[in-house]
Amino acid sequence: MNKYYLTTPIYYPSDNLHIGHTYTTVAADTIKKYKKLKGYDVFFTTGTDEHGQKIQEKAKESGLTPKEYVDGIVKDIKKLWELLEIDYDYFRRTTDEEHEKSVQKIFTKLYEKDEIYKSYYEGYYCTPCESFWSKSQLVDGNKCPDCGRETHLEKEETYFFRLSKYRDRLLKLYEENPDFIQPESRKNEMINNFLKDGLDDLSVSRSTFDWGIRVPFDQKHVIYVWIDALSCYITALGYGTENEENFEKFWPADVHLVGKEIVRFHTIIWPALLMALDLPLPKKVFGHGWILFDDDKMSKSKGNVIYPEPIIELYGIDAFKYFLLREFSFGQDGSFTREKFLQRLNSDLANDLGNLVSRTITMIEKYNESIIPKIGIEESIDEELKSLALSTYKKVDEYMEAFNFSNALEEIWKLIRRTNKYVDETMPWILAKENKKDRLDTVLYNLAESLRIVSILINPVMTKTSKDILAQLGIDEHLTWGDASSWGKLKSGLKVNKKEIMFPRLDIEKELEKLEKANSDLIERRKELKERNRVEENKEVKEIEEKEDFITIDDFSKVKLKVAKVIDCTNHPKADKLLVLTLKIGDETRTVVSGIKEYYKPEDLIGKKVIVVANLKPVKLRGIESRGMILAAEDENGKLTLLSTLEEIDDGATIS
Ligand code: MSP
Repeated sequence: MNKYYLTTPIYYPSDNLHIGHTYTTVAADTIKKYKKLKGYDVFFTTGTDEHGQKIQEKAKESGLTPKEYVDGIVKDIKKLWELLEIDYDYFRRTTDEEHEKSVQKIFTKLYEKDEIYKSYYEGYYCTPCESFWSKSQLVDGNKCPDCGRETHLEKEETYFFRLSKYRDRLLKLYEENPDFIQPESRKNEMINNFLKDGLDDLSVSRSTFDWGIRVPFDQKHVIYVWIDALSCYITALGYGTENEENFEKFWPADVHLVGKEIVRFHTIIWPALLMALDLPLPKKVFGHGWILFDDDKMSKSKGNVIYPEPIIELYGIDAFKYFLLREFSFGQDGSFTREKFLQRLNSDLANDLGNLVSRTITMIEKYNESIIPKIGIEESIDEELKSLALSTYKKVDEYMEAFNFSNALEEIWKLIRRTNKYVDETMPWILAKENKKDRLDTVLYNLAESLRIVSILINPVMTKTSKDILAQLGIDEHLTWGDASSWGKLKSGLKVNKKEIMFPRLDIEKELEKLEKANSDLIERRKELKERNRVEENKEVKEIEEKEDFITIDDFSKVKLKVAKVIDCTNHPKADKLLVLTLKIGDETRTVVSGIKEYYKPEDLIGKKVIVVANLKPVKLRGIESRGMILAAEDENGKLTLLSTLEEIDDGATIS
């Protein structure tokens, strides 16, 4: 069986994911479903990229530990994938112990092979972007060229990966594998912007924060996020663990799907790291475009973030996935607006697909007692429909192979529209009225057959709708992609089952309001939840702080208390308030200086047993070294008495 391995990037769990993030995962899931229908053994990895300074700071702002903070978001991310019925095979968290161990092994291996060395890094550091910049790269004085925020000069001891030496091998890789970077334009970007003028070695550790995987042989450093994150693609397959079966089977990846801004990491750093590890390289990196909101970048501070949950709850996952993959061209940026979404719902889903399903099933019910008829009289117009269906399959298959979902869906919709037109042209209600049963049978069969093909072709994107149409046609067998490649496979005699309308027409004005409200309600709910967590967290922190008046038994056991006998006692020669005591503690004799001269005369103490803190750090008091402290109790009136034992006991006895 052919195998296929594909991945999404692992998402930063610094905040809830918006529709932009969802886009990559929906595309990956669609590819998986498509390949599975074609009979491939597919493995699909996704996950979360949880380390780094930004997350550490976000967690601090919320009063949580980094792990507590990411745990909450990761739960929401997994819930979102469940809601979208994303069929991933492995969810890799970079805080998984297994991942951490494998990454440490990778780092050590690279160090031992002299692919990594220790040196210094100096540059202008942007904390939110976790990036170093050179002076010439800064904008407006000392601002980060990526986010426009202030940077600061930092010099840091760091480990470097010898990235520079891989420049030529990378250029050769692109040349020999023209499909390695897709779309083509991104390849040119990599060559012209990064490789043409040579590459610098890459800083791969940090010592200025500690939320990361430790460099195993130098605990001061944590492994910088990119080695940590990129390795997820192989650690998710068990690389570096006892069980590398999946790695042996699925590596190298057939495709890494990534957003355009991280193409550089995946086409320069990642292959170079793999070359250094002597591992096979992925076959393809596809850099898709960005989803903007009204032509603007989505961001929390601009208040224009669109979350997927309200859309899915109101209109279902298929409408959402259809829109994402139909509206935007996968390689390019596109702009999301709620109007466009609702318009497509009305035109493509309600008018075209929903209408075709509903009229086909209704007519079979009405004119043939719900049974799919046998073909009767054929006419030339049928040929047109047939040949369009067959050419649609071919085109859709080609577009799907190229991850051109938008064109693939467009072709399917051409077939849907043509089939609707076929209804208008053949007018089955007239055929029924005129009792032309043989012709009517053919028309009804052809409509059902076209729908069968459509439902297979939309399956990778609109799985629920596809199953729903097949169920309405009375088909319950498992179909494969190839079943859409020929006309006439539909069995006559099947009984159709009408269900309620799949995509009712919507009042756009009303829905717009609903959608906007649902999105802002969700934002409010999340804010409140965060606030509530913070309040509760503060309460807990306070309680813990109050509890900090207590010490644990371990704390107490650090203090070594002993019974000591005073064998000599004199006034301190240089101090008015101090006595110098010679104590016998078992076999040992030691000197302790104590500020009790106003309470005791030396002769009162000689021969008495006292309690001494035996492991106190020695101090010199007015020239005499005191090795310990004797315990005394003092009341509010200033009365002071030395502590002793209730019964007589040998000196050297331990107190616990
Ligand atoms: N953690 C890194 C990836 C490490 S992979 C070894 C990261 N995470 S991210 O959460 O910032 O982004 C994850 C993916 O979401 C990226 O591919 C990014 O391009 C994509 N998107 C984030 N916002 C997006 C849009 N508005 N539109 C489309 N995709 C976008 O980068």
